Amino acid sequence: MSCESKSEGPLIIGHRGAMGYETENTLASVEKALSLGVDMIEIDVFQISSGEIVVFHDERVDRLSNSAGLIKEYNIFDLKKLILDGGHQIPMLQDVLKLMKGRAALNIELKDTQIADNIHQIVSGYSQKPEWSEEQFIVSSFDWEELRAYRGYSPQGRIAVLTEGDPLEAIPVAKELGAEAINPHFTQLNAGNVAKLHEAGFKVYTWTVNDPADYQKLKEMGVDGVFSDYPDRMK
Ligand code: G3P
Ligand code: MG
Repeated sequence: MSCESKSEGPLIIGHRGAMGYETENTLASVEKALSLGVDMIEIDVFQISSGEIVVFHDERVDRLSNSAGLIKEYNIFDLKKLILDGGHQIPMLQDVLKLMKGRAALNIELKDTQIADNIHQIVSGYSQKPEWSEEQFIVSSFDWEELRAYRGYSPQGRIAVLTEGDPLEAIPVAKELGAEAINPHFTQLNAGNVAKLHEAGFKVYTWTVNDPADYQKLKEMGVDGVFSDYPDRMK
């Protein structure tokens, strides 16, 4: 099942929250995306050494924090001491879920391996809460093996297959996984391949679109959703 856009046109998906305005993948970025009225928010996740799922894009903390090293090697105690640009902390997935309270759908992008079980447990738990529903969660990854693992744990959960290359090449794995969508980089799309992806039964959610002129062209091609750092520019 897919979500309806709040307005006519493709779903507007806040990329790492609304990273054009606030430090990516922070609670402030998520709150900013919500304030801009997005249909969905995308975040990236890793599992750290003490077992928690945390919201972060890079394998290393160097680019965004006052420290260095692999995110996976941090435990929760040391992670809490990291300070990101703007004075923010790295949130846990549960912090984002508690903040959002089902006010938009959530795309959880798996950046790590062997986390499918943990993600499934968290999504299932929150799906039972009154403010959330199962249909609001979609899990994506460039790591198709991890998506296979997720499908093993979650027979019904929504899945999107991320791809950097020719999106038509992702059709076989998307079929095998029972995926809802194929998510290509926007420069890989044209009216012809969007139509073929639709004929094959898939939605097309494309990243990362920040120029309103690109958005207009993609809308005319018939894409079903766009990820943007500046969701308010996608009108
Ligand atoms: O899910 C869309 C987009 O987030 C994929 O690329 O590197 O921004 O995680 P990246
Ligand atoms: Mg991402």
